[in-house]
Amino acid sequence: MTAPWDPGRVAFAIDRTHSTPITAQITGTLRAAIVEGRLRPGTRLPSWLDLAAQLGVARGTVKAAYEALADEFLVFSAGAAGTRVAERAAPRPVEAKRIDIPRPLQDLERGFSLRPLPFQMGVPAQDAFPAKLWARLRTRAVRTNAMAPVGPPDPRGEPELRERIAAQLAITRGISCHPDQIILTSGYKNGLCLTLLALGVQGRAAWVEDPCYPVARMGLTIGGVTPVPVPVDAKGLRVDMGVRLAPDAALALVTPGQQAPTGVTLSPERRAALLAWAAREEAWIVEDDYLGELQLDGRAAPALASGAGAERVIHIGSFSKTLSPALGLGFVVAPLALAARFGEVAGYLNPAPNVTTQLALTDFLAGGHFLRHLRHMKSLYRERRDALHARLDRDIRVDAFAGLAVIAHLPRGHDDVALAKHAPELGIAPAPLSIWNADPAEGQPGLVLCVTNLRPQILDKACDALAALIDEGTAAPLSARAA
Ligand SMILES: Cc1ncc(COP(=O)(O)O)c(C=O)c1O
Repeated sequence: MTAPWDPGRVAFAIDRTHSTPITAQITGTLRAAIVEGRLRPGTRLPSWLDLAAQLGVARGTVKAAYEALADEFLVFSAGAAGTRVAERAAPRPVEAKRIDIPRPLQDLERGFSLRPLPFQMGVPAQDAFPAKLWARLRTRAVRTNAMAPVGPPDPRGEPELRERIAAQLAITRGISCHPDQIILTSGYKNGLCLTLLALGVQGRAAWVEDPCYPVARMGLTIGGVTPVPVPVDAKGLRVDMGVRLAPDAALALVTPGQQAPTGVTLSPERRAALLAWAAREEAWIVEDDYLGELQLDGRAAPALASGAGAERVIHIGSFSKTLSPALGLGFVVAPLALAARFGEVAGYLNPAPNVTTQLALTDFLAGGHFLRHLRHMKSLYRERRDALHARLDRDIRVDAFAGLAVIAHLPRGHDDVALAKHAPELGIAPAPLSIWNADPAEGQPGLVLCVTNLRPQILDKACDALAALIDEGTAAPLSARAA
């Protein structure tokens, strides 16, 4: 099918002063005419020479523009019959404005890649990240990677990085493992996904702490596993309750080091009871070690995966808290008997993330920077937490220190979710406590106040905003006003 070329349908406006190259200007004009249907399929474009003369440009410029359109399958060369518009133009991307697809994690994150606000959880101190050093290591890694012979990378992660992590875990978490038990991931969530796939536990039940990181509950549900909430008290998970509620669960997903969100460390008796249950029932313990040894007071308890019974523990680590969630790096330590299975699942369905980030992290660990950074973060966060505690005591009661946050309970009946939603308008981002409960209506309302980004210069202002937020909520519950 042919259609005549109608110059009236294509308005070229070549601008030699514009930063867009002339070739791209010609391509853009023709592309728009084709995609919008002004140039019908089969239309023969003018020859290079004719269009070049018409536009006052070189013949090669028009040729390059036509080649670019051919690369996009918008036109094709018909030999002596010239260049013609292709039969079916590529579909246009749907305009973002026209449909509203809800973004993920609506209730947990106020948006993505935003500058963190005071009290916001999950983001380490922005002012203390060794950005220059990281940029240097990253640049070197990109160069090394670009120069290296290209073959498929190890889906479990770069061998040298896995060796470094194994050495690091021995020092910081008391874990003794072979590097091939370690599989690199893009963080905790990816580690959980890999674990569920490798264990093949779809359709089974899993203990989850109550309260717990909402991602854990929802992650299990999405992964086809039924979460069974098991209460947490001052000694950590109530293992006796777990046994009563779901003795035959396939696994228990726990944060034994510093329970999220209460900060409680699982007591030695409960550790023993949990490991005994797993051994007896041939169940798995999935240890979310999100803070690693980043414990502000004293030394972190050794990981569950470090001692007797470790053969039933899958240890999930993340560099999100210790370094930055922006790196997107974490790892799983599989029990020895499952190491091959985890490797296989990584190989087929869940390969390790970007090699250059891995190489940069390898150098970061090898240079001793990681341990130095951890030491620095511990004292910095302790200072910030204590300063917040002292400052808050004037008008808000702190009920618990929990990991890198402090928890302030609100009187029952307060809508902490509505408060947290409103908070960014006051320039702060505390998290609501109740959503960590399996049944939010049962949970004590409160605010989780992360201390990592509370620089001394902003402490007063952030606390004033917090007091104003709580006052507003007390005067007239925000949920009532919204209704
Ligand atoms: C309990 C818990 N586990 C894990 C993570 C880390 O998740 P990721 O590595 O996906 O950033 C967090 C982060 O906030 C957390 O609170």
